[in-house]
Order: sequence, then C-alpha cells, then structure tokens
Amino acid sequence: MVAASGVTAYEPIETASRDEITALQVERLRWSLRHAYDHVDHYRRKFDERGVHPDDLKTLADLSQFPFTTKADLRDNYPFKMFAVSRDQVVRVHASSGTTGQPTVVGYTQNDVDMWATLMARSIYAAGGRRGDMVHVGYGYGLFTGGLGAHYGAERLGCMVIPMSGGQTERQVQLIADFQPDIIMVTPSYMLNLADEFARQGIAADSTRLRIGLFGAEPWSESMRREIERTFAIDAIDLYGLSEVIGPGVASECAESKDGPVIWEDHFYPEIIDPVSGEALPDGSSGELVFTSLSKEALPIIRYRTRDLTRLLPPTARSMRRIDKITGRSDDMLIIRGVNVFPSQIEELILKQPMLSPHYQIEVWRDGHLDAVNVNVEIKREYRYRLPVDKEHVANTLQHHIKSFIGISAQVRIVEIGAIERSLGKACRVVDKRQTAA
Ligand code: DLL
Repeated sequence: MVAASGVTAYEPIETASRDEITALQVERLRWSLRHAYDHVDHYRRKFDERGVHPDDLKTLADLSQFPFTTKADLRDNYPFKMFAVSRDQVVRVHASSGTTGQPTVVGYTQNDVDMWATLMARSIYAAGGRRGDMVHVGYGYGLFTGGLGAHYGAERLGCMVIPMSGGQTERQVQLIADFQPDIIMVTPSYMLNLADEFARQGIAADSTRLRIGLFGAEPWSESMRREIERTFAIDAIDLYGLSEVIGPGVASECAESKDGPVIWEDHFYPEIIDPVSGEALPDGSSGELVFTSLSKEALPIIRYRTRDLTRLLPPTARSMRRIDKITGRSDDMLIIRGVNVFPSQIEELILKQPMLSPHYQIEVWRDGHLDAVNVNVEIKREYRYRLPVDKEHVANTLQHHIKSFIGISAQVRIVEIGAIERSLGKACRVVDKRQTAA
C-alpha cells in the first residue's frame, strides 16, 4: 500500500481515508462498549450509575459521556474480574509489577494475541524493518509485555528473532557483535548501558550492522534520540504502549517522518482530557492521554486514563493521528517549590552539554521547609581526563541552564563514571526522599 509520501505501509488501513477510519471506529466502538457492558460486572455497574448505555453511542463524540477506567479499577478487580471472556478462552496473561504490591493483570484471547502481533509487525515495518531482518529483543520477557510483544511482532513480520531479554549486558554485546542483527528493541536507557559495555569491550558501537532501534517503555527526550543515533549510527524510533491497552504497539513512529508515534487508531481510540476536570480537549491541546480498545476480547478497556501527558497531532506519514513525545507521566511530575518539573526537561539540558553523559539521577529532599534538588550526572568517558579542570565549569553551566530554562535552583554534582546505577529495563531517574523525610 503506497501512502501519500510514497512510502509503503504494512496494511491498507494505515493509509485509508479519514472517513473510512472514522466509520470503522464508530462500528468497533459500539461493539466494544456492548461487549464490556454485557460481560464485565464492573462496566455494567459504572455505566448504569452514569445512566449511559452502549446504544447511546451514535458518534465518536458521544464517548465522552462514558465513565473513565483507572488503574485502581483494575486493582479492585484483581486478578481476573475485568475479563470479558471465560477462563478457557484466555490464552495469555501479563502483569505490571505495581508499586503497591498488587499487580495489574491483563489477559488475551488468541485473537487478541494475533491482533497484537500484527500491530507490532506493523510497528517494526513502519520503523523500516523488513522480512528477513534479524531482530535482537532486549526487552524483558515474562510478565512484562515488552519482550513477548516485540518477539511475536518480529516473527509475524518474518524476521529472525534473538530472544535475549534484559540483563546479561556483557553477553548482549557479544551476541550483537557476533550475530550482527539489523534491528534492536530495548528501553532507551538500557541502550545507553549497552553503549558503555561496547566501549568497555573496545568495540566501536557504530561498527555493527544495526540499522534501526525501536525504543520505548519509558520517557526519552529528543536529545537522547540524537545521542543514541550518533553513538550507534542507527535510526532511533519511538515505540509506545502500555499493558492495560495491549502492551507495546499501541502507537509507533514511522522512519520516514520520525515525528511522534502514529496511534494504530483502527484498534485503539485516543482522547486527550484535562487531568483535573476530566473534560475532553480538542486535538492539539496538552493533557492526559486516554484510550478505549476497539477490538480487544479478553480485556476490553473503556476510557483508560494512562496518566501520560502529551498532545494529539494530525496525521502525516499515515492516515492516523500521532502523539507528541510523552513529556512524562502525571505521577512522575515533580513539584519543586511550586514549579512543575519533568525529568525529561532536565535530561534535555544535560544532553545540550557536549561533555555530559546521559547517565543522570535527580534527588529531591526537604531542606528545612524547602524542597532541595541535586542533579547527579556523569561526564562522558572520552572527557574524563579534563575532569579536574572543567568539572566546576560544566556543573555551573548546567546549574545556570536549569535555573534559567526551568526556573528551579538545583545543585549539580559531577559524579564518578559508573556511579549512577545502570538500568536493566526502565530507568529510575528520580529519588524523591521528601515523603519519607516529612
Ligand atoms: O512499557 C509497554 C512497552 C514495552 C512499550 C516496550 C514500549 C516498548 P507498561 O509497563 O505497562 O508497558 O508501562 C506503560 O510506560 O503508560 C508510559 O508511561 C511509559 N511508556 C511506554 N512507552 C513509552 C514511550 C510498557 N515510547 C507506561 N515514551 C506508559 C514514553 C512510554 N513513555
């Protein structure tokens, strides 16, 4: 299928007319609301309380009358009460680790697994991957959706998969050097970890056959994209998803435009809402991303509040809308002396300094009654010999930038190379000691 840009798409629907997509969405949305209402007690109760019925949906705008679903709803219905099919139709479960100890469990029928594999194949294809490519999967396998999601998608596309999973960093680098894969799928922070290991083993990271990386599962900035692309001489593509909606492959970027992940709108209907009032906002406004599944059988999800903050952008390389790079989750937003700060904003400023590495951690604590912030960051290995001379200058410059661009006073500390704990999956960028200290 040839898109307006002349680029081929994996499936015809990706370049269908907007009218066709809307018609499909209305039809599928009506099915999904009905399926949830008929088979999940939670949804029936919530809809009844609100006085809405699946038949009330005539246009897409009517969706705003239906109630939201939150992570708390999934936890309250732990483990399987949100499932809309009988146990014998569920062929797979995944779960998120959850900070409260109570994980969120998600289920898939065979059709769900097939749909997911196809969307992941579509995502890898959009990133520039093709049948016959070799794919190194470094996302964790297991209850996390990253590993198996990537694996099934790469197989569906006809690729040769190396199911490496996370960890064993030394071995990962060896296998990349020996097998020479074309594509890598890992978290962006783990890719940086691999860069260090390449350096440690004395292998030039830009000398491999790798051509494309699909990175996601955590926020990462445009500066981080440039850093990864430069280090590995690859195209770094943004892959977005969450377990409650399906896993990776809810949205993915196209290689030809690299202008934000395209939402696979034939299966997931997006909305942006005001996180405080819950009001649906027009496209282009910043707010919280909300998804409704259109075809999922085992776990239909209605107006799920992702907590991810972004904007809906108009279609470019495909006929479907895009999301802007996720600034962060509303849960990750730090409020420092009244100023809202996302770790990704600090990351952008760190990477504007040529001598600084992307390995950083932000510490927040209470100094008397006031919030205090340390930004601990490592210098790049190639500049380590300049450390005694330039350390103070580099720290002061970053401190100054944080003050002038973000508006907070932070203490920048240049720490030893290797002092920042390396991630094996999702990086931990913030240590907030305020709750415990209070
Ligand atoms: O992280 C699914 C995934 C795996 C996506 C591999 C991409 C690649 P969860 O563990 O449920 O699922 O975490 C979902 O991770 O709500 C976002 O806050 C964040 N996230 C995922 N992808 C991106 C991205 C997987 N590309 C949560 N950019 C989501 C920013 C992302 N944040």
